Order: sequence, then C-alpha cells, then structure tokens
Amino acid sequence: MCGIIGIAALLGKTPQRPGLMVYKGLLRLEYRGYDSAGIASISGDRIHVLKGKGKIADLEKKLCLSCIDGLTVIGHTRWATHGAPNDINAHPHTDCSGKIAVVHNGIIQNFRELKQMLVSRGHIFKSETDTEVVPHLVEEFYKKFGNLYEAFKQAIKMLHGSYALVLISTYEPNKLFFAKKDSPLIIGLGEGFNILASDIPALLEYTRRIVTVRDDWIGYVSPTEIHVEDLSTSNIVDWSRYIRIVEWSLEDATRSGFPHFMLKEIHEQPRALKDTFYGIQSDAAVAKAVKLLLEADKIYVTGAGTSYHACFFYSLTSSILAKRIVYHFIASEYPVYTGTAGENDVLIVVSQSGETMDALKALRAFRERGVKTIAVSNVVDSAIPRESDIAIYTRAGPEIGVAATKTFTTQTLVLSWLTISHGEAYGVLLRSEAEELRKWLSMSSELVARVISWNESLARSLAEWLSRKGNAYYLSRGIGVPVAMEGALKLKEIAYIHAEAYPAGESKHGPIALVEEEYPVVFTIPKHEELEKTLLGNIQEMKARGAVIIGVAPEDTILKDQLDYWFKVPSTHWILTPITHTPPQQLLAYHTAVRRGYDPDKPRNLAKTVTVE
Ligand code: M6R
Repeated sequence: MCGIIGIAALLGKTPQRPGLMVYKGLLRLEYRGYDSAGIASISGDRIHVLKGKGKIADLEKKLCLSCIDGLTVIGHTRWATHGAPNDINAHPHTDCSGKIAVVHNGIIQNFRELKQMLVSRGHIFKSETDTEVVPHLVEEFYKKFGNLYEAFKQAIKMLHGSYALVLISTYEPNKLFFAKKDSPLIIGLGEGFNILASDIPALLEYTRRIVTVRDDWIGYVSPTEIHVEDLSTSNIVDWSRYIRIVEWSLEDATRSGFPHFMLKEIHEQPRALKDTFYGIQSDAAVAKAVKLLLEADKIYVTGAGTSYHACFFYSLTSSILAKRIVYHFIASEYPVYTGTAGENDVLIVVSQSGETMDALKALRAFRERGVKTIAVSNVVDSAIPRESDIAIYTRAGPEIGVAATKTFTTQTLVLSWLTISHGEAYGVLLRSEAEELRKWLSMSSELVARVISWNESLARSLAEWLSRKGNAYYLSRGIGVPVAMEGALKLKEIAYIHAEAYPAGESKHGPIALVEEEYPVVFTIPKHEELEKTLLGNIQEMKARGAVIIGVAPEDTILKDQLDYWFKVPSTHWILTPITHTPPQQLLAYHTAVRRGYDPDKPRNLAKTVTVE
C-alpha cells in the first residue's frame, strides 16, 4: 500500500539533508508495495515536485529525487487504486496555483462528487486520482478563510473514506499538516526537526521517539512544534502522553548482507521465536485473554492471508487440546458471521501489521454487537490491537518482505500458548500435559535453527526443477493442512506458480484428475502416527499417476521410502508443525522465485499492508 514520509526541519539541525532523508525513507517504504513514487519540497513561493512511474532507484537516476532542496519535504510511494500507475497519477498532487501539495494513503470514497463540485468552480485537475481533490478543496477553503489550518480542517471534514494525509504549502512553509482515518501514520520526534511517516522503518534512522496518530486526529508539525486536535470532539490532544520509544534496531529494518529481506526474515526465525516465547511467558494479557475465552459462549478467530492460516491452525489446536470449537473465517467474509455473534462471545483477530482493513472491519463489526475482542499482532499500537479489549504481541521485529514468514511462525507460537493455557484452565489438559507442551514450545527457536540449516541446500537445488513447473499441489491432513496452505500461498505469491492446498483425502474427489508425470506434490507430514499412516495412501495414489513427491517430514518418518525429495525436520510434538514444517516451504518458494528471476520482496500486484477493503 502507499507509503508516506515528510520532514519539517530547521537549517543545520538534521543528520542529513531533509531531501536525502525523505528519499532514504522512501526506499525503506518500498516493501509496502508501490508502482510509482514522488517527492515535493517548498522552494520560494512555489512547490517543487519530482515524480513518476517505476522503481525509486530508476526515478533517482532519471530525476535525482534525493537532490531536492528545502527544509520542508514530503515523499510518497503509490500503490494504484484510482487511476492507472503512471507519471501523472503519482503523488504528490498539487492545487491549481501550485502552492499546495498533498500525499495520501487510503481511498476517498466521495471524490467524484467533490471533483464535480470543484470542476464547476473552475478547478483544473491533472490526474485521475481520488487524492487530487484534497489540494483543490484546501485551495477553495483558503480563498474563503485566508487561514491554511482552518482550510485544511474544513477540507478534511468533507472527506468520506480512509486517509493518512500530509500537506505542505507555501502559505506556511515550515509546517506539515496531517490528518488520519483508517490508514496508518506516525509522528517521529527529533531535535530541530519532526517527521511524519506511514511506518516505523521509514524514520528509524533518524529517531526512535514516536507517537502513533489516532483516527480523527488532525494537526501540524513544524521543526519545533506539534499541534494535534481530535476532529470528532474538537478537543486539543495532549500528544506527549502517547510518546513511546521504538525498540526495533535499524539493523532489523535493513538487509544485513542478505540478498533479500525475505531470506533474512526466514533466517531470523530462531531469534523471533525466542523473543516471542520470552515475551508471552510474562505477558499479563494472556491470562486476561484466557479468562475471556473461559467465559465465552462462542469463540471466533479471523485474519487474512497468512494470518488466516494461523487462525485455522489455532482453531484445530483448540478443538484437539482445549476441546473448544473455534469458528475460523477469512476476515473479508465477516458479514456472514457477524449476525451469529453476541455479547457473550469472543473474537480473536490475528494480523501481523495490525492495520489490515478487512480484519479491522471484522473487528469493528463484532465489537458493535458487544463481542469481546483479542488482538494478536506484531506492531505495537497499530489499529487492531488498539481497538481490541486485549492485545497480545508477537515479537518478530519488523517484517519488510511482502511475504509473511517470521510473523507466521511467531503467531502460531502465541496461539499455541493460548490454546494450552485455555485447555489447562478449562480442565481438559492436566497441568503436567500443559507443562510438557509448553516445554516443546520453549524449544522452537533451537528447532527452527536446525530446520533451516538442514534444508537450505535442498531448497536451492529443488527450486531449479520447480521453477520450470506451472502447477503444484500442497497436501496434508489435520493439523498439517494450514501449513500446506501457507506453503502454497508462498509459492503463488512470490514465484507466480499456481499452487493449491487441500486436505489430502479430497484428492479422489476431483483434484487428482490433474496429476500427470512429473507433477509436483508437496506433502506436509506432521509428527503424528495416525496422520502418517493415512497420508501413506494419499502419497501412493499420487505416485501411481507419476507425481513427484516432496515431503516435509520428521527425521524418523515411516514414509521416507515414499518420498522423492525429503525436507527433514526434527522429530517433535505435532503442535510444532507450523514452526518446523513451514520454513522449508518458505525456502523452497524463495529460491524458486529467485531462480525464475523475480524479486521475492516485492511481488507484483501485492502490498505489505493492505489498508483497503
Ligand atoms: O498484516 P496482516 O497479517 O493482517 O496481513 C494479512 C495478509 O495480507 C498477509 O498475510 C498476506 O497474505 C501476505 N502477503 C502473505 O505472505
């Protein structure tokens, strides 16, 4: 999704030139996904804009974005929603006079009506975007009020939809004006400068002191001043109450020698799991969440994409270990389920970014019905944990690659811990059984390190063969099914190979018709005697049709003679299946994407944080 960064600085007070800082911030926002980018600064009584379609590095060669002068600078990476990705639709957008420039993340739903009204008043539009109505609206109100902040407020009041907006103007050249609703925005506090950005990595090199902007906040930052109001109440906000120090290091947000963020993040899993495990042990939120679960009539869990796979896994573990049915659904499907929920129920929302619009909408719809909510997220103070009754955090560190990797394994760790605690408190797990399971979880960091070192080279060599294929099946049974779904999603989203996951028992009901000589089938084989036995038949029926069988299986699997390729994982408890069996599939997808010449960090058509419905 779109990314924003802006700086208002005093001369000589920034660590680097503001233009360079914004440019570097844009590079750190690339992971969110974008198709065009731009930068603007105030120069004299005009605004200087450089923008265009394509990668930031190419635009830098063509336009030298980083060379832009000025002390008040804004930048933007655009992920097209209204209007094709091209030079004109790239942000920033300006008004007719060229004295106001705006960058925007989100969607202005009523832009057509606003545009019509503005055109009838003589405004000339250059782009097809929804965003361009904003500078023209502010221009219109400025004519009336002669006060830029007032004009900005009036303009924002007319918008329907979602926005994180930053505006600069020659009328007040040392300020960044901002407003936020349903799209993320943070303020970074500096000495002699202040920053606005969509995301922490964009400003981490310059400051660790941040304030997360809340919905309906509106205001401005200058190099030495911050002013915030709540548009819904018209009250001044004491923003200093919301300052927090970011613990992520700059190293977390850089590639540290790895060719891609995705590979770095796969390798970070031992550290991410260790931090998450220690965090969860001492997290008071878990006990509160268990209490809610014990009191609940019905329990629902929702998320999107990879986070949904973690939800599905949670629902399975809950049935098996806590003997509680958990209804799992894909976040965007929430209207189907809302009507069944009431005030004695609990909804768990899983989202690494904490900002996914589908998940946020589901959360809000359930809250409206009085449902209690628990968030599981990787980003402190993001919208979903903020709006939930209880927030539990994974501690994976920033995930920059568009494909979720370490956030998935850490989500499943947290959710497994929750199931075990719930089962124990519910009286269906003995204390000794719960302790035994927690002991397995405590080993996840060390186990995943082994999994990665055992399988990296097979993943690389097998990728050469897989990269020539157009389809693959990812199969498993029971607890392994969400892991197979995650393996298939990884291959699809970064290597652009069609991959389908389903419970292996379904093969004979249709999908096996596609299988022919050399057809790739990846089996997730959990450490579970019964599952292994039933999977034997499924493997054999695939082999009989010429399929090539790739197994992700424990080192003592009874199925080893059945496998053409074997990603060996330590023999553990089945509860660790996502943690031990997913990394080889992440590596396989990663190396296949690279082999096919694609950039796994920035897959086409995808964004890291999906803040639109
Ligand atoms: O930030 P979230 O966990 O809410 O994101 C949900 C999905 O958009 C995300 O998992 C997506 O499917 C990833 N590209 C998967 O790798």
